[in-house]
Amino acid sequence: MPPILEIADLKKLARRRVPKMFFDYADSGSWTESTYRANEEDFAGIKLRQRVLVDMTDRSLASTMVGEPVAMPVALAPTGLTGMQHADGEILAARAAEKFGVPFTLSTMSICSIEDVAAATGKPFWFQLYVMRDKDFVANLIDRAKAAGCSALVLTLDLQILGQRHKDLRNGLSAPPRFTPKHIWQMATRPRWCLGMLGTQRRTFGNIVGHAKGVADLSSLSSWTAEQFDPRLSWEDIEWIRQRWGGKLILKGILDREDAEMAARTGADAIVVSNHGGRQLDGADSSIARLGEIADAVGDRIEIQFDGGIRSGQDVLKALCLGARGTYIGRPFLYGLGAMGEAGVTMALEIIRKELDITMALCGKRDIKLAGKDWLARPLA
Ligand code: FNR
Repeated sequence: MPPILEIADLKKLARRRVPKMFFDYADSGSWTESTYRANEEDFAGIKLRQRVLVDMTDRSLASTMVGEPVAMPVALAPTGLTGMQHADGEILAARAAEKFGVPFTLSTMSICSIEDVAAATGKPFWFQLYVMRDKDFVANLIDRAKAAGCSALVLTLDLQILGQRHKDLRNGLSAPPRFTPKHIWQMATRPRWCLGMLGTQRRTFGNIVGHAKGVADLSSLSSWTAEQFDPRLSWEDIEWIRQRWGGKLILKGILDREDAEMAARTGADAIVVSNHGGRQLDGADSSIARLGEIADAVGDRIEIQFDGGIRSGQDVLKALCLGARGTYIGRPFLYGLGAMGEAGVTMALEIIRKELDITMALCGKRDIKLAGKDWLARPLA
């Protein structure tokens, strides 16, 4: 096997090991994927400031995200269908994150349920909530996350309606997956993946099936999800969710300064500057292009977190310099998971940790918590 040195190497391996429709599900954006590409590409325009002959010993990547200590300011982002990249994917990723000392965020649309992940891990994880039309279901989901000991609720705001992803449509990907001869062939060419799936008991959308009204089994899931994302979700709804939850609340999917101003008034603990990894509004700016302006506007009132396009520790550092307190990675950990299960997620985190540490040192800095614009070569235009 060729050496795995960077996230792109994990991506190559995942492409070989995960059936095409599920690999494509991770590696896709909406419509032309221009925002998905911009998320990655726009980091290249941000230049770091090289310094020399400064003491580089005793460096620290330790920080906090919403007050929780983290080994480095990089959490695993909530991603739906993670259990289709690898059997028990959510559990494996949560375990890798736990051992590494970074937060894991479980998606509402996960394969393994909140209770499955809680039973298989030792530390609290974060739970991501989609607000559905059925408010009893939402309230129950919040209560389940509380009962499972989740330590933060990540409320996603940028998916009131689903962005169209051509790869998924062309592949015939649906929830639950419906298997045509083409899909069966795609799976048959990935025997290791199939063996893993055969060995697991957890193959349902455990947060939904058996809990939502009218969704007793997988066959009724598809129409339910299509109808349930709530197009009327409003700023007023944040308040009842905040009260019902009663713990740390993170609002995810802010890309506009005015929305950031509104979010800062809700009493939430943090916002995530994010465009859902380029999976929603294609044609929107990259996340990194908007981060600085948003952090400048509200960063003194609410914690700023960031995701979108991070593929290296250098990208993490640039986001921190532009005002993020913490970041999330989505696809990098999914590629690791698809490539090698839990060990692959650990490897993705390790690659990013090493890149972040060496980059910080070469900038002549020792404490990641102090990252700021003065670590950059020049202000952004
Ligand atoms: C996501 N994302 C996402 N976000 C969310 O709030 N709930 C979800 O269920 C999902 N599902 C999901 C699936 C997949 C396959 C991907 C790639 C992404 C968005 C995710 O949390 C995050 O915002 C992006 O993944 C960040 O961009 P990168 O790191 O993937 O470039």
